[in-house]
Amino acid sequence: MLAFLLVIVILVIYYILSTVKPKRYPPGPKWYPVFGSFGVINRRMDTYGSQWKVLSEMSKEFSTNVLGLKLGNKLVVAVYGEKNIRQVITEKEFDGRPDSFFLRLRSFGKRVGITFVDGPLWREHRPFALKHLRLGGFGKQSMEQDIHGQLSNLLNILDQSNGNAISIRTPIAMALINIVWKYVAGEDIKENKLRQFLNYTSARSKAFTLAGGYLDQWPWLRFIFPNWTGYNIIKNMNKAMLDIIQDTIRRHKNNSVEGNDYIHSFLKEMYNNKDTYSEAQLVGVCLDILIAASNTGSSVLDFAFILLLRHPDVQAKVCEEISRILGDDTPTWTDSGRLIYTSAFLAEVHRGCTIAPFLGGRRALTDVEMDGYLIPMGTTVLVSTGDLHKDPNFWDEPDKFKPERFIDENGTLRITSNFHPFGLGRRRCPGEPLAKSFVFIILVGILQKYNIVCNGKPPSAEPVIGLLAEPIHFTAQFVRRL
Ligand code: HEM
Repeated sequence: MLAFLLVIVILVIYYILSTVKPKRYPPGPKWYPVFGSFGVINRRMDTYGSQWKVLSEMSKEFSTNVLGLKLGNKLVVAVYGEKNIRQVITEKEFDGRPDSFFLRLRSFGKRVGITFVDGPLWREHRPFALKHLRLGGFGKQSMEQDIHGQLSNLLNILDQSNGNAISIRTPIAMALINIVWKYVAGEDIKENKLRQFLNYTSARSKAFTLAGGYLDQWPWLRFIFPNWTGYNIIKNMNKAMLDIIQDTIRRHKNNSVEGNDYIHSFLKEMYNNKDTYSEAQLVGVCLDILIAASNTGSSVLDFAFILLLRHPDVQAKVCEEISRILGDDTPTWTDSGRLIYTSAFLAEVHRGCTIAPFLGGRRALTDVEMDGYLIPMGTTVLVSTGDLHKDPNFWDEPDKFKPERFIDENGTLRITSNFHPFGLGRRRCPGEPLAKSFVFIILVGILQKYNIVCNGKPPSAEPVIGLLAEPIHFTAQFVRRL
C-alpha cells in the first residue's frame, strides 16, 4: 500500500513539474506530461500541412514573436520578426546548434561535421573547409566552366525529350552535386549511387521536421516502429552516403585520385596528427556538404519553373530580357547585373518559396532575454525567415508573386535587409556563391533556348514542408525556341 502511495505521489510531482513553465518563459500552448506541446502541434498538422505553418499560426494566436514550446522533454522556442531574427543570427549567444538523437543519427551517431556542431570544432572546421575548397577553385570564376559543362548536359537532356513532358529535378540535383564533389573529392559520383542517395534525402526531408519528430523525442520508438518513425529512411540514407564517402577516402589514401581537393588537404592534417582531424570528422564534413547540395539548388529551380508555368506573362518578360541582352552568348554570373528582371524574378522565387523556412536550428549558449522573456540556456531556437519573407510590414501584398518588388524606381535591383534565403552572420550558407551562380546560369541557359509549357492546369506552387520546403513533383514540356 505504501509503495502504491509512493508511486502516486511521484507521478503527481512529475505531472506538476513537467507541466510548469520556467519563469518568464515565452508564451505558447499548454504543456502536458511526457508530450509537452507535441500533441497540440501534431493535431494541427493536418489543417496546416506542416509544423512550420502550425507554429507560425500559433505565434499569431498568442500575439508573440517568441513562441515558447516544449517538445517531449525539450525546450524549443520559435522566433519571428525582423528584430528577433537579427538578434539570433548575429549574437554569439545563439551560435550553438542543438544536440539531439536525430542530429547525431544523421551524422552516423556522432557530433561531427560543420552544419550541426558548434564551439571550437565548428570554429576550426568551417574556415578550414572553405579555405581548402577555395584553394581548389570553389567560388572562383573558373568554377563557371563546371557550371557550363553541366548546363550543356542538361540542354542535351531537354533536346532528347523532343518536347515531351519531363521532370529535370534529378538531373539538376546531380549536376550541382557533381560540381561540389569535384572540389571536395576531385571526381564524380557514380550515377546509380547518386540517384539512390537523392531519393533518400528527399524522403528524409519530407519525413522529419526541424524541431524533431517522434524519433527525436522518443528514440526507443525506432525499435518498435522503424518505418513509421523514419528510422529506416535515415539508416538507408546513411548507408548510401557512407558507401560514396568511404570509397573516395579510400581511393585518396591509396593515391588513386590526384589533385588538391579538400579530402587530400584534410588527410594531410590528419597524418600530422592535428587535433580534431579524424576520419569521423572528415566523413561528417563530406556528409554535410552532400546533404546541403542535394535538394537545394534543384528545389529553387523547380519552384522557378512552376512559377514560370503559373505566370506566362513573367516567363515572356524573362525570355525577352535574355534574348535582348544576351542573344545566344553563354550566360555568366556577371550577367546577373544586366539581367535585372531575371534576377528580380529569382529573388522573388527565393522570397515566395523560401526553401529553408526555418534556418538551421540554434541552441542558446546562455540564458538570453528576448522581448522581455527569458530563453533558458540549452533551449533549441527555430528562426523563421519563411515568415519574415511574408511579413506584410515589409512586403506589399506578400502572398502575390511580383518580381517587380525587387526593382527600384531607377530600374536597378533592390535587395532589402529583410531578405535572408541563405541566412546571415557567422552561420550564413557557405555554398551561396556556387548556389547563386548555378541557379542563375542554369535558368538563363535553359530559357535562352526553351519555353516551358504544360498541358492543362499548371502545378501548384504550394511547398511540401519538412526539414526543407520542396516543390511538388510535376512534369513540363521544354519547347525549343532557338
Ligand atoms: C539554393 C541553394 C541553397 C540555399 C537556399 C541554402 C541555404 C542555406 C541556409 C538557409 C543555411 C542555414 C544558415 C543558418 O543556419 O543560419 C545553409 C547552411 C549551410 N549550407 Fe547552404 N544553401 C544552398 C546551397 C548550398 C550548397 C550548394 C552547399 C555546398 C557547398 C551548401 C552548404 C551549406 C553548409 C555547409 C551549411 C551549414 C553552415 C554552418 O552551419 O556553418 N549550401 N544553407
